Amino acid sequence: MSMKLPFFKSKQTDTEINDTTIENIPNHVAIIMDGNGRWAKKRGLPRIAGHKEGMEVVRNIVKASTKFNVQILTLYAFSTENWKRPKSEIEFLMKLPKEFLHIYLPDLIENNVRIDTIGDFDALPEHTKQAIQYAKDKTKDNNGLLLNFALNYGSRFEIIRAIKKIMIDIDGSKISVDTLDEKTFSQYLYTQGLCDPDLLIRTSGEQRLSNFLLWQLAYTEFWFTDVLWPDFNEAIYQQALLDYQQRKRRYGGI
Ligand code: IPE
Ligand code: IPE
Ligand code: MG
Repeated sequence: MSMKLPFFKSKQTDTEINDTTIENIPNHVAIIMDGNGRWAKKRGLPRIAGHKEGMEVVRNIVKASTKFNVQILTLYAFSTENWKRPKSEIEFLMKLPKEFLHIYLPDLIENNVRIDTIGDFDALPEHTKQAIQYAKDKTKDNNGLLLNFALNYGSRFEIIRAIKKIMIDIDGSKISVDTLDEKTFSQYLYTQGLCDPDLLIRTSGEQRLSNFLLWQLAYTEFWFTDVLWPDFNEAIYQQALLDYQQRKRRYGGI
């Protein structure tokens, strides 16, 4: 794969010839990291081996995001529907954040990454919450990449939750039905304050949203690859960004 694409556009100035700029990089990239189980199965390994390998890929893609100047990276790590999986797999997945942060938190801090989550955080196991809360607190003042894990996240749950909160605020006269608009509604979602994703990537060949960011993806560009998440890497990520750069976003206009 050629990397000499217009990703880095050379800019000539009086003093420097080889200065580079990055043009039209998505501010917010969301990824449905899928295919860990199939990756493991292909190798005759237990599914959890795929999750473990996938964790290493997360670190690489976080690094690449900083390098490419992406501002927000939202990673779908566990859906509200994933509780249907065998208990042993769920237990493993709930231990992964702690393991990931144990290894990489110092590195993430050094790279000015801020960690946050979207989803029903309170319903996570205590040990999972503790590890993540610690990382959130430690990185809260960082102003580099926002690494946003969708954990116990489900879009329909999020929307119902927002409606309930809105009804309470209408009851309490904090907002009125007349002034409720899209912007106000967005403020009741987990993603409050964040711009909508510009680019959605899903690995593993599946072409569905699986209850991910239904409201926020209204005008997002989609990019699918057959590559399984544990095989995803910086070069493939760059290809997604390059393809994104060729898209014409019209938002209903002409
Ligand atoms: C994605 O990989 C990780 C999670 C959903 C937690 P899967 O575990 O869904 O892997 P496949 O889709 O079964 O291959
Ligand atoms: C979506 O993947 C959820 C995550 C990647 C965390 P799934 O593997 O759960 O999605 P389905 O079941 O194939 O739709
Ligand atoms: Mg899957």
